[in-house]
Amino acid sequence: MFRVYRTKNYEEMSRQAANIISAQIILKPDCVLGLATGSTPIGTYKQLVEWYDKGDLDFKEVTTVNLDEYLGIAHDNDQSYYYFMHENLFNHINVDESHTNVPNGMCADPEAECARYERLVRTLGYQDIQLLGIGRNGHIGFNEPCDSFPAATHIVNLTKSTIEANKRFFASEADVPRQAITMGVGTIMQARQILIVASGKDKADAVRDAFYGPITPTVPASVLQLHPNVTLVADEAALSGVQD
Ligand code: GLP
Repeated sequence: MFRVYRTKNYEEMSRQAANIISAQIILKPDCVLGLATGSTPIGTYKQLVEWYDKGDLDFKEVTTVNLDEYLGIAHDNDQSYYYFMHENLFNHINVDESHTNVPNGMCADPEAECARYERLVRTLGYQDIQLLGIGRNGHIGFNEPCDSFPAATHIVNLTKSTIEANKRFFASEADVPRQAITMGVGTIMQARQILIVASGKDKADAVRDAFYGPITPTVPASVLQLHPNVTLVADEAALSGVQD
């Protein structure tokens, strides 16, 4: 099943995505949520926190697994994805800290960390729902365009375009890490449900190529066409490259 929710704007996209995640938590309180970073899901997390504050949501039995993390960035660096997740979600809800998982970007042995993380996601029984953003070049997590779909959690060299896109968050381009640990495309595809969010005109080409073009590792998100349960929540601008 591939379902598209076309929303008017970012706020509506965020509310719709939060609704879908809420439904998952309500139906299965001890679910495994696959979480994402980037600017796109921030509104979704904000909405979830609001509903938690109102007493409509309970995260006490939830486990989370994040997609990715920069290599060589400490937890207390405000650009680490660990920091991002605490700042935008974990610090504001009743999730058990020991049930939250982000790859460790400061590990001594990154290869061993990848193997540990892959094992962890498998042991948890994989994600009930995986939230994804999409990079301008069609990347998911940090699976960058390449010659083949990398299956398991691995180390990536970030592409020029990703470094360029992410430099806005750092003091200068030189400060953007060059490598990251990311779940592989295979790890992501194990999720029972995929929820992908996209907003803004600069995502229009990526959304069109991912869902309406050929399945190719040069557009990593296009692999999602092979997944049995994908929901795309995107605003009009992000869907502007696609016919109704
Ligand atoms: C980052 C993250 C991705 C995210 C993407 C888009 O590099 N690793 O998980 O989907 O970029 O980010 P944004 O939502 O800020 O455009």
